[in-house]
Amino acid sequence: MPGDLPLFLAQLLRNPREISAVVPSSRMLAAAMAESLGPLDGPVAEFGPGTGRITRGLLDRGVVPADLTLYEMNAVFSERLQREFPGVRVLNRPAQQAAEDHRGTLAAVVSGLPLLSIPEPVHREILAAAFAALRPGGRFVQFTYGPKPPVREDVRDTLGLVATPGLRVWGNLPPARVYIYRRAAEFCAAPQGDHAFRI
Ligand SMILES: C[S@@+](CC[C@H](N)C(=O)[O-])C[C@H]1O[C@@H](n2cnc3c(N)ncnc32)[C@H](O)[C@@H]1O
Repeated sequence: MPGDLPLFLAQLLRNPREISAVVPSSRMLAAAMAESLGPLDGPVAEFGPGTGRITRGLLDRGVVPADLTLYEMNAVFSERLQREFPGVRVLNRPAQQAAEDHRGTLAAVVSGLPLLSIPEPVHREILAAAFAALRPGGRFVQFTYGPKPPVREDVRDTLGLVATPGLRVWGNLPPARVYIYRRAAEFCAAPQGDHAFRI
């Protein structure tokens, strides 16, 4: 989004552990994160939207603003998101609280959180909150920069999840890969051609 880099860098200097990325996601990564979604999906939550690059990708993909709830812990980013995305519900609250608002109702949770840099207990809480907020068949979409999948293996196994590796986005800085997680027990209902791994 034009003009968001100085704000992003200023917040990175003030909160390096929470931001944990040197630049916002590219438009290509935002499009890859939104690829499995559309206007008919229903309610979607985004975790850690930052300056809203992935939010823009979701709206461009057709997600209805009134169906979208953003959980952003940073107050400065939250104010900007509120101005930038009228009609979208912006909550200046941690993602861990999502289950209280959306128990079993969300079609998808799309996360731009730096999950593997987040301490293990919080990582666990975030995933548990996401899957408590998701409806049956709902999915958790997350990118990562490294070679390892973005959800810790022990958390994946405790929650009974399977991962589908999605698109690699070489043009992002740094290159990233999208993963989609679902509950293993529901995976048989996934679209044909999906290929899930215990990875
Ligand atoms: C790496 S930045 C990603 C920004 C954006 N999604 C993107 O891809 O450009 C991570 C964002 O997550 C937010 N964040 C970190 N922990 C959070 C939490 N527990 N709940 C909600 N937001 C959080 C930070 O404030 C920051 O805006």
